[in-house]
Amino acid sequence: MKLGMICASILLGIGHRAAAQALPPSNLPPATPGVFTSQASIIIDAPIAAAWSVLLDFPSYPEWNPFVRSQIVTDALFTQLADQTAHENLRLIIQAQIPPLPSPVDANTPPNPLHSQTSFENITTIDHAEYRTSWRQIMIPAPLLGAERWQALSTVNGEKTYYEAREVFSGPVGYVVDALFAAELQEGFEAQAAAFKTRVESLIL
Ligand SMILES: *[C@@H]1O[C@H](CO)[C@@H](O)[C@H](O)[C@H]1NC(C)=O
Repeated sequence: MKLGMICASILLGIGHRAAAQALPPSNLPPATPGVFTSQASIIIDAPIAAAWSVLLDFPSYPEWNPFVRSQIVTDALFTQLADQTAHENLRLIIQAQIPPLPSPVDANTPPNPLHSQTSFENITTIDHAEYRTSWRQIMIPAPLLGAERWQALSTVNGEKTYYEAREVFSGPVGYVVDALFAAELQEGFEAQAAAFKTRVESLIL
């Protein structure tokens, strides 16, 4: 009886390790401390270059993204730039649906005005060598609300791509965001990851 339990826990332990090993290594930087975290990851059947170009093609987000309905690159005064290429230290105006719209969406899918949120962000990382992006909300002062969204890509099994997204919310306002939006934000991260996979795979097939 006791031996059986020991054997069972050894087997479970091995199972857990095998499952952990099955996840590709993370390409995100170490997480900073915070109040709560939204995150999602997914394996995409496409080369990393294809996924990277979809991730950075902000003007096409309305065509596929049920969570981030638009993401506009601006100057420091939040004026839209003609060249929408993302660079560090440019700003973003993001229109999100929290919770996300039902998938799939296209450019003509109307917003749900009750669930529309606008945020003003600074682009903090566009790393073409490491396939990492980050942007941080700068609408509410950082001591009150820290919210930096990281996304990273890495190659797995030679020709597939591992997509990871993570946003840590910190500061006193983080508790408010947690209470009001944590579940819906998590839904948004998962919906975007799934739609991103579908979009990238549809473009290369
Ligand atoms: C925006 O991010 C860049 C890159 O990290 C940084 O150098 C700059 O100081 C930031 N600007 C603001 C207004 O937060």
